[in-house]
Amino acid sequence: MTPKVTGFFDDATNTISYVVQDPQGSACAIVDSVLDFDYASGRTDTRSADAIIAFVKGNGLDVQWLLETHVHADHLSAAPYLQDALGGKIGIGDRIQVVQDTFGKVFNEGTEFQRDGSQFDKLFVESDSFHIGQMRADVLHTPGHTPACLTYVIGDAAFVGDTLFMPDFGTARCDFPGGSSEQLFDSVQKILALPDETRIFVGHDYKAPGRDEFAWETTVGEQKARNVHVGADASKDSFVEMRDARDATLAMPKLIIPSLQVNMRAGQMPPADEDGKVFLKVPVNGL
Ligand SMILES: [Fe+2]
Repeated sequence: MTPKVTGFFDDATNTISYVVQDPQGSACAIVDSVLDFDYASGRTDTRSADAIIAFVKGNGLDVQWLLETHVHADHLSAAPYLQDALGGKIGIGDRIQVVQDTFGKVFNEGTEFQRDGSQFDKLFVESDSFHIGQMRADVLHTPGHTPACLTYVIGDAAFVGDTLFMPDFGTARCDFPGGSSEQLFDSVQKILALPDETRIFVGHDYKAPGRDEFAWETTVGEQKARNVHVGADASKDSFVEMRDARDATLAMPKLIIPSLQVNMRAGQMPPADEDGKVFLKVPVNGL
């Protein structure tokens, strides 16, 4: 089964959102959508999500799932906005509960913030499978970047989120709370155990030395042969040493503070105050 996959690149956050279509029907899923957010003004915008809505409507597609590979730290999810416009169920990994517990504390959320994943329609675990029209989707739990990261294998296409990036860029950082370079290495081995011809669709692209174009599609075979961090039989020890040293030099993503507060709520803003106003918090020296 070869689903039709269309990528939507967001320049502001280097995120790729995907529409995955059943080649034999109208069913589709949307993976890792983006709600535009200008931190300086505190304003949201829906132009990225509206481009996906136009594509879905223009092609007469039926959205069955809004899939999140993880709680993103660099962009806000547009899943609830897309759900209102197009339908579909919002799914994420069941380890979201760990992420909600961690960031519930960081943001000093009250007891009204549920840490049981109930904001999402479906919590997936390792080896779950489901259908999008005639397409079978299999769930791999691939932690390391975050505890709740999933890879969705839909037909011959794997949506790996922030585990592997393009072969010339390598892998994702593992220094967020609950991250682990050792776990990421093991998760990557799970993905590389898929058939060589499996198409891999990555969650972000930042170009790479010698490459001037953004790219987001590769294969398991290419990753095994050429990934600069984990290809050519790289050892776990050398990977962990490289990853941890590199992560120590990285700045926090610009939108981490708003992203976490929104994405741990399945893309909803925090509840409005008594005047109907919505605020996001900034923990001072708390992250
Ligand atoms: Fe991420």
